[in-house]
Amino acid sequence: MDKLIIHGGRPLNGEVQVSGAKNAALPLMFATLLARGCHKLTNLPRLRDIRTAEKLLVELGAGSETVPGGLHIHTNGLAHYEAPYELVRTMRASVLVLGPLLARHGRARVSLPGGCAIGARPINLHLKGLEAMGAQITLDHGYVEARAQRLKGARIYFDLPTVGGTENLMMAATLAKGTTVIENAAREPEILDLAQALCSMGARIEGAGTDTVVIEGVDELQPMNYRVMADRIEAGTYLIGGALTHGRVHVLGARPEHLEALLSKLEEAGARIDVDSEGIIIEAVDEIRAVNIRTQPHPGFPTDMQAQFMAMMSCANGTSVISETVFENRFMHVCELQRMGADISIDGHTATVKGVRRLFGAPVMATDLRASACLVLAGLAADNTTELSRIYHLDRGYENLEKKFRSLGADIERVPE
Ligand code: UD1
Repeated sequence: MDKLIIHGGRPLNGEVQVSGAKNAALPLMFATLLARGCHKLTNLPRLRDIRTAEKLLVELGAGSETVPGGLHIHTNGLAHYEAPYELVRTMRASVLVLGPLLARHGRARVSLPGGCAIGARPINLHLKGLEAMGAQITLDHGYVEARAQRLKGARIYFDLPTVGGTENLMMAATLAKGTTVIENAAREPEILDLAQALCSMGARIEGAGTDTVVIEGVDELQPMNYRVMADRIEAGTYLIGGALTHGRVHVLGARPEHLEALLSKLEEAGARIDVDSEGIIIEAVDEIRAVNIRTQPHPGFPTDMQAQFMAMMSCANGTSVISETVFENRFMHVCELQRMGADISIDGHTATVKGVRRLFGAPVMATDLRASACLVLAGLAADNTTELSRIYHLDRGYENLEKKFRSLGADIERVPE
């Protein structure tokens, strides 16, 4: 296992290119199950989660071929319909095969994902929606077994806007008989990206990116040839890096329309933001001001940026109140930040962060993907040396993180533990 050694205190300066979005790429890869043929995906990030998704597709009988700039997925010979525990356990997004498999093969068996570091994360809303579309669902030995002759269109109201649930049902509905309406749908940009890819395959979808998505089922879809959108969370992480270290960073490929809540909070905290045709530029003023945030479904402040923002607030001037409303247990990074000198107290879903003058380096441990990014950022800003272990979490979601930070002037290296 590797760890990262970070000698902090250097301002980040320069340009960094954002990779393709993991959270857009995964559903797109599973959407290939909806149509026979050769699907061509480009701008896929090179990440562990992408390799896990590829393994799952191969397990189901698909063929995959790495080509310059992307991946070709051949879905002619699907032979299996089961997503086994070993794969779902390492990557929860594997449950997104449920909708496509059921829609094309009338059958799917997917391991229940169970809990994870950031909370219980049930899939009850995915299952309720598929049942409304006529699927018969049984739970058996930790697996969800779903069957349907042909799914039928239905009107589905989500009790809360779930990203994965919206994606799973949207994919399932593309081949259903009749019209499906998803109300209180999630509005994340990755959902719009998936809808655009599905439409390029011949699906009929309206309203993706709003809270009501209407899908008119068709009999058959064609393979896609699609370029994955840029990763807004990765972009946000580099923007915070620029602000937190009092540098100037040009994040190439970042799309301001995907990052409105974060950009407005960064400006409130005193950073100067400029947008040009290539991306977003951030420049920090001398002092970071404390600001409050409350995570919410898109277009609210993203829960996937909460930990990184907390790293910045840990050394802001004043006290910041950070409320996490999307996941129940997403403050795992707090104990580690405290070991670096941060002054943070937690009361339920709210963290009160009293900014300190400097953080100091310490040995810390990553607990989940975004918590890891938070600790890297804290290490970059801290005095002395931070050693971050368990970085396999980072490799699930950030492509070449240490190389990209190094290209911005950071003193960071990966060494075997
Ligand atoms: C996706 C993202 C993840 C991000 C999250 C919220 C991917 C691969 N992952 O996760 O990075 O943090 O959106 O933006 O895209 N819930 C239920 N029942 C369900 C489904 C969800 O109660 O059936 C709850 C969850 O426990 C959570 C909330 O709804 O509290 C939002 O979860 P959801 O939007 O589904 O997150 P994911 O799709 O798992």
